[in-house]
Amino acid sequence: MKTILVLNGPNLNLLGKRQPAIYGHETLDDVERLCSAVCADGFQVRLLQSNHEGQIIDWIHEARETTCGIVFNPGAFTHTSIAILDALNTYEPPVIEVHISQVHKRETFRHHSYVSLRADGVIAGLGLEGYAAGVRRVCQLTGKTD
Ligand code: DQA
Repeated sequence: MKTILVLNGPNLNLLGKRQPAIYGHETLDDVERLCSAVCADGFQVRLLQSNHEGQIIDWIHEARETTCGIVFNPGAFTHTSIAILDALNTYEPPVIEVHISQVHKRETFRHHSYVSLRADGVIAGLGLEGYAAGVRRVCQLTGKTD
């Protein structure tokens, strides 16, 4: 069984409660259910969330040995964290960057992403469907390289 890490950054623990006009009413549990439902046979999803940059970096390092891809919503660290970019640059399998909101329609500070310098795909503005698309893409890319 191959494992896809669905990794979430700061404030996403409050998904469903946090600014629902922007991020919707669904929760991270809903994200986990959706991702598990769409992943191909032979794949499983592991969902993690942290508000702490160092924790996210440690999980990316661990994922080097244990996962076949990362679907990653880095939250605000998207726009600030060279350290997370450096961690992702140590990670070989596919990385798909996901934003629930359409960040390019929002404040200009959300238009730049350090993570995009490493990501193999970038999805923004599709709501939770972006996570599902990310999981499907990791399955597709992983299948091709096996
Ligand atoms: C987000 C967009 C980021 O700009 C923001 O800081 C978030 C969530 C999104 O999913 O749309 O926390 O990554």
